Amino acid sequence: MWDERYAAEDFVFGTEPNDYLRANVAGLRPGSVCCIGDGEGRNGVFLAEHGLTVTSVDLSSVGLEKAARLAASRQVPLTTIAADLAHWVTTPAGRGPWGNVVSIFCHLPSAVRAVVYPALVDALEPGGVFLLEAYTPDQLGRGTGGPNDTDLLLTAARLEVELAGLVFEHLEESIRDVREGALHTGTAAVVQCIARKP
Ligand SMILES: C[S@@+](CC[C@H](N)C(=O)[O-])C[C@H]1O[C@@H](n2cnc3c(N)ncnc32)[C@H](O)[C@@H]1O
Repeated sequence: MWDERYAAEDFVFGTEPNDYLRANVAGLRPGSVCCIGDGEGRNGVFLAEHGLTVTSVDLSSVGLEKAARLAASRQVPLTTIAADLAHWVTTPAGRGPWGNVVSIFCHLPSAVRAVVYPALVDALEPGGVFLLEAYTPDQLGRGTGGPNDTDLLLTAARLEVELAGLVFEHLEESIRDVREGALHTGTAAVVQCIARKP
């Protein structure tokens, strides 16, 4: 599905970073970032431009080829790994350690999150940051982006449970205007979090 979407010449989610990430990049830990579900790389490349060492992981090799091209055009290094997170987090490469994990609209089934999130929490360095924005179930029916399956959607309460072991510095559900490419097109229900490993 994602390979087909990314096959278009245009960047489906644009080449500008996510709003929440842009607003909070200064709070990330210097060093490495594992950018999960980075797609065409708009967020990974933005982080690399801020001096972070970025590894972008995504199922879609088509998306990651565009990410690599975007990085080259901006003259920043970006490591891309085409893999299913469910497996990759169990490999030596996936175990980090990471200074940060960034997850922007990376909607995984709950059974996959149950493997991926604890593994990434383990892989964070002490003091490392997990930054996430995702759609909530309140997004269903709005028609402005995100999956239609409630199991893929997140809430603050789910994150508190699923990211056990981290200390939340910001955790909030809100309605905001999301205009981030052709598939994210207006008023949306989101959850945002910044959580740190003690
Ligand atoms: C809505 S897109 C968001 C892309 C990017 N984060 C952005 O905001 O521009 C979701 C991305 O998650 C990726 N993805 C979904 N499930 C995945 C999995 N199990 N392993 C790796 N990537 C996955 C998809 O391939 C897709 O690129």
